[in-house]
Amino acid sequence: MKVVTIVGARPQFIKAAVVSKAFAHHHIEEVIVHTGQHFDANMSQVFFEEMQIPIPDYNLQVHSLGHGAMTGRMLEEIEKVLIKEAPDKVVVYGDTNSTLAGALAAKKLHIAVVHIEAGLRSYNQRMPEEINRILTDRISDILFCPSEDAVRNLQKEALDQLGAKIICCGDVMYDAAMHFREIASKKHSILEDLALVGKDFVLATIHRQENTDERNSLLRIVEALNRLHQEVEIVLPLHPRTRKKLDEFSITPLFTVTEPFGYLQMIQLLQSTRMVITDSGGLQKEAYFFHKPCVTVREETEWTELVEHGYNTLLPPAQINILPQLYYRLLKNLPDFSKQLYGTGSASEIIAKEILKA
Ligand code: UD1
Repeated sequence: MKVVTIVGARPQFIKAAVVSKAFAHHHIEEVIVHTGQHFDANMSQVFFEEMQIPIPDYNLQVHSLGHGAMTGRMLEEIEKVLIKEAPDKVVVYGDTNSTLAGALAAKKLHIAVVHIEAGLRSYNQRMPEEINRILTDRISDILFCPSEDAVRNLQKEALDQLGAKIICCGDVMYDAAMHFREIASKKHSILEDLALVGKDFVLATIHRQENTDERNSLLRIVEALNRLHQEVEIVLPLHPRTRKKLDEFSITPLFTVTEPFGYLQMIQLLQSTRMVITDSGGLQKEAYFFHKPCVTVREETEWTELVEHGYNTLLPPAQINILPQLYYRLLKNLPDFSKQLYGTGSASEIIAKEILKA
């Protein structure tokens, strides 16, 4: 069995880290293609090094383009690789432009498409990620879902009746969090480095296009965080998009902003933070994996079960001024984190076995 795996953005490296290990364990031959979408060393290379992901066989170096040009260029380049490598299956992750380009290139060459993290829906088609998810799911042959809600979303779209195989395997990010937890505490001293030992702090990230691309939206979020910062330390690793926009709009955060952290540093911070405030998809779940309350600065989320069970609170950006009150309210009413929503940490094993069977 030979697979080509397409990755390109930071969360995909994290997911591929555990799945590649399972592929190797089951003697599945894997060729890794990095589209180049994320290219800064601290957005890409650091993950390959610290998570021991095999070095990509190809780096297509497609980045810093608009959506059309980026997806188009990737499609063209991935097609060439697939013709050369002739794999049995192509594996794509999540919801980025790299995901869609990989799925489309494979499908047109009649190569089976495997989508890991299938079935998520925000039902907001103004998000580029939502378009990428819907289209990728529609042309995938095997859909590996992280949760029962994701399975139901795909059943609603009748994808099972259209010949796709839907499998609820759990979340590969849960596998990664459990696998790297021990290693993180041995390898890093990020709490010391940031002088956070013994201190209450909040871990925040903001990078979504809809929160960063307009001055007023970004300003409102930073001002709310500035106010919360009067109550508690805030650490916010800056995604390159957000850094660029803060500079462009001359907005100055009063809390600690840093370069992007590596995965192991994030895992360490997650274990000690009081709360997570984010617009990232992955971090909403990681907060839950480490039993931390989470505020998501968005109108909606695709990780609906976290909201239903009270682990995640949606805060629409227009209401962000209530952040300080919300912070105290959530800390007073911590939920019971014992429910297992995303499998048992064996999603990548299930995926490898199913791929061998199919
Ligand atoms: C992408 C994904 C998003 C995912 C996120 C994780 C799409 C549509 N979006 O968004 O689903 O949550 O990754 O981080 O694919 N840049 C750098 N250095 C880098 C990476 C990016 O300077 O290493 C710059 C780009 O040139 C661009 C901006 O940051 O100007 C945004 O990058 P882009 O790849 O367009 O999307 P993300 O916001 O990272």
